[in-house]
Amino acid sequence: MKKGSSASELPTSNFQLPTHIAIIMDGNGRWAAANKKAIREGHKKGAEIAKETVKSCLNKKIKFLTLYAFSSENWARPEEEVKDLINLLRLYLADDAEALIKKNIRLKFIGDIKAFPEDVQKKCSELEKKSSLNPELTVSIALNYGSKQEIANALQIIKKKNEVSTIENIGKYLYTAELPDPDLLIRTGGDHRLSNFLLWQSAYTELYFCDTFWPDFNETELDKAIEEFSRRERRFGTRK
Ligand code: IPE
Ligand code: IPE
Ligand code: MG
Repeated sequence: MKKGSSASELPTSNFQLPTHIAIIMDGNGRWAAANKKAIREGHKKGAEIAKETVKSCLNKKIKFLTLYAFSSENWARPEEEVKDLINLLRLYLADDAEALIKKNIRLKFIGDIKAFPEDVQKKCSELEKKSSLNPELTVSIALNYGSKQEIANALQIIKKKNEVSTIENIGKYLYTAELPDPDLLIRTGGDHRLSNFLLWQSAYTELYFCDTFWPDFNETELDKAIEEFSRRERRFGTRK
């Protein structure tokens, strides 16, 4: 898509855009198998699609995008795959991420990044710092993220500080403290589960599942999800 233009044809008036979209980018492995490629190639294409999706969200004036890139359970994958993923992350941070923050995007990392090599951790903090005042779109990348761990961690901090575990206070100690809860959560790849992603934050999030493998996801698919979101009636427990 050309800079400054939007290939999407979403209606403009009276159209409820989600403020915060979260995506479980699933299906890289199955895409690779279906296309007779190495899993590494699936992850590589997946990273490209992540970059394109950020650009699409920027063009659509979405304010927050949260991408599930590596779960705390993904360490259990074969060593070679984990190594490939970390190397790919290095490349993404050095190249794509740098390009994105030049477009006024704010980058955040959620999850326990201390588990990654030191150079990766350093690069993450550097990108966060450099982009912290960028106002257009906040992109949070979930790395070594596990929602149960995040909640347990928040409760431990609260206990240590001798504070009270109110809903507001728990939210304050989650990685997502400064983010609004997601309005729309998309999972690609055909599975209908949350896989330990944003369990607390998605209490009233609209869930959207599509069969497309993440490396085949594109702006048309994103528009479909947003359109479906705009047709949903969010009641938050009330009677409308
Ligand atoms: C998502 O794709 C990427 C990561 C979890 C890192 P998968 O690698 O899980 O792809 P499938 O689900 O095996 O097809
Ligand atoms: C969820 O996908 C994690 C990411 C997309 C990063 P998984 O492929 O790890 O989830 P499961 O194992 O199918 O639940
Ligand atoms: Mg998967």
